[in-house]
Amino acid sequence: MPPARDTASPPPAPPPRPGRTRQAAAFALIAAVCGLSATAFAYTGGWLSPDRLTPARIVDALSDRGGDPIGHRRNHSKGICFLGTFEASGAGTALSTASVLARGSYPVVGRFAIATGDPMAADASGRVRSLAVRIVAPDGQEWRSGMNNSPVFVVATPRAFYEQTVASEVDPATGHPDPKALAHFFATHPESAPFLAWAKTAPWTTSFADQQYNSLNAFRFIDASGASHPVRWSLVPTAAPQVEPVAALAAKGPDFLEQDLKARLARGPLTWHLVATLAAPGDPTDDATKAWPADRPTVDLGTLEVTTAQDEATGACRDINYDPTILPTGIAPSDDPLLAARSAVYANSFDRRTAELARHATAAGSAR
Ligand code: HEM
Repeated sequence: MPPARDTASPPPAPPPRPGRTRQAAAFALIAAVCGLSATAFAYTGGWLSPDRLTPARIVDALSDRGGDPIGHRRNHSKGICFLGTFEASGAGTALSTASVLARGSYPVVGRFAIATGDPMAADASGRVRSLAVRIVAPDGQEWRSGMNNSPVFVVATPRAFYEQTVASEVDPATGHPDPKALAHFFATHPESAPFLAWAKTAPWTTSFADQQYNSLNAFRFIDASGASHPVRWSLVPTAAPQVEPVAALAAKGPDFLEQDLKARLARGPLTWHLVATLAAPGDPTDDATKAWPADRPTVDLGTLEVTTAQDEATGACRDINYDPTILPTGIAPSDDPLLAARSAVYANSFDRRTAELARHATAAGSAR
């Protein structure tokens, strides 16, 4: 006789079908992956930690310093492209295996600029002038570098750069940055003193052509034995400086640097020596606010010859991101924390400006 059924308890659940178990597990996995992706997305976007410094926050701050930077670089926003060549002397090959340092001539696409957030800024308002290069070797390896005419950088860390940028934001009510905010920033950032001393005392000149441009960040040259040599590099002009009071430069008009460049190039090429400075043990490689002693040995790596100027809107430099960490084999970043930040922030600025230009082109096309 079969056992009597206990009518008080529910019938036992049928065992799950193997197909259903697999389906439930697959749904759980998909949900977990979606959840993780959403969390990672929110983290990357900075939504989970609004105080975290992200490339987007830095670029947002850089975009609020006056003028209309849409479609333009978010720093060094006013510039002009150039074409030229780098004539390597071969002297750098003892320090680095980089193919662009082997004796030879390599094409360059570069850009002169003033360090401003406003693409229409008057040239006499730009205390810092810059020169960026992309040198390409026949094997396709590239050396990209953005250099400034100051002897040191204004800050040592990405956080301080952000704070200085926020302090420089233009107040829409006055059209100027709040002088108290900048004064407070510099009062609380003594590391900026060498830069400020340069900014107050360095002579203003009439030209991009007579400026020395400096990498400021340290890098490492790696030689054939694998040994690493900490270096900074500079472009040292062959043109003598023509100094004028800044008021006299302002009176020349808002675009005197571009006019001067084009006039000089109409007479012939402009040249700079690319000079590497070797650190001595103990020289700081992680702090761009600190100059190295002037007696450090140097090596003349070759000559940059600038031959042709191009307007930025149609020039070859427009769509180049002069990310200073794009380096050939044989040259590597140092431990300077600004380098990784520059790479991430320049990429964000590049993505925005190229997307803005593409949207503008699409809108112009559909209006036709
Ligand atoms: C955390 C520190 C820094 C940040 C966040 C920053 C940010 C930027 C950004 C957003 C751009 C525009 C990039 C583009 O859209 O292509 C730019 C351009 C530039 N920066 Fe920096 N920068 C920093 C430090 C430096 C340093 C230490 C130097 C030293 C020389 C420098 C030199 C330049 C130059 C030369 C350009 C113009 C490149 C060109 O002409 O396209 N920057 N910077």
